[in-house]
Amino acid sequence: MSDWTHRHVLDLAAFSLEDYTTVLELAQRFRVMPTSGARKLPALQGRLVTTLFFEPSTRTRSSFELAAKRLSADVQSFSPSSSSLSKGESLLDTVRTYVAMGADLLVVRHRCTAVPAALARDLEASGDRVAVLNGGDGLHSHPSQGLLDLFTLARHFAPEAPSPEALRGRRIVIVGDIVHSRVARSNLWALTACGADVVLCAPATLLPQAFAQFVDAPPPGQASDPVARRGAVIVERDLDRALAGADAVMTFRLQKERMHQHLLTSLESYHRAYGLTHARLERCGSAVPVLHPGPVNRGVEMSGALLDDLRCSLVEEQVTNGIAVRMALLYLLAAG
Ligand code: NCD
Repeated sequence: MSDWTHRHVLDLAAFSLEDYTTVLELAQRFRVMPTSGARKLPALQGRLVTTLFFEPSTRTRSSFELAAKRLSADVQSFSPSSSSLSKGESLLDTVRTYVAMGADLLVVRHRCTAVPAALARDLEASGDRVAVLNGGDGLHSHPSQGLLDLFTLARHFAPEAPSPEALRGRRIVIVGDIVHSRVARSNLWALTACGADVVLCAPATLLPQAFAQFVDAPPPGQASDPVARRGAVIVERDLDRALAGADAVMTFRLQKERMHQHLLTSLESYHRAYGLTHARLERCGSAVPVLHPGPVNRGVEMSGALLDDLRCSLVEEQVTNGIAVRMALLYLLAAG
């Protein structure tokens, strides 16, 4: 844990294999802690975690807030609709107000790419010591979701000792609205870093061919890739071919709020070609675990029956694991 160097968590493209190991080990400790009786650890006593969600959220925000409370932090949350933003206050001035109230850690979600990074830069420039954690920015990045998906898969393959090694050589299929998904992007960085091969599957309108090169170069502003050798990224348009030999499948929601034109002829035809069902998984001969970050459109990206089938659906497990992963992140950023 002594190797942890990140002041903020903004994008998994900046994570090394050691960073993933640190988060997974710590998350496992929090995950196996008893959740009844003495539920709270004193690690963040006296620290203030502020959640600033400028975009709707069900899971991420409440998971961060619960994680902070389990570490004994104080928690404050900001609601944009009832704030002075509507009176014309700038985003930075609004955020500075919370910093002036003593926030040690800000969890920020925004519909525009790079807002959390811009806030982190501006706050650092003015000498503020607050840490920024990206709770999802536009299409760009959702690091805590990428980490909880990684943790869930690592625990599936190695329940006692989840580590990046558990992913090495695995074939992980990601199907759905990839072009609009920040979760897909974060998963691409995380899974390939751990040596998994990622098969992306969707129609061309939701998955440009260029995604095959997604992890070939570090993103703008990052000088180099901290990971020496990544798994492969493969684009496969046919779901049955993608699923052949898969070790796990993730499916993502059609992000209608980010689609500015018709990208599909109909939801029914999308479900027929790309929806996950028991029959489809069985046809491919794979009893694979299925993940979805939520919220799920039942009957579109996956059938309701598959979602509810706890023999293969890890969706609830992802939610539970998310608390432990966020505890690990808050601990690493704020306890030091
Ligand atoms: C995702 C998000 O907000 O990016 N959800 C989540 O955080 N659990 C995915 C989505 O909205 O579809």
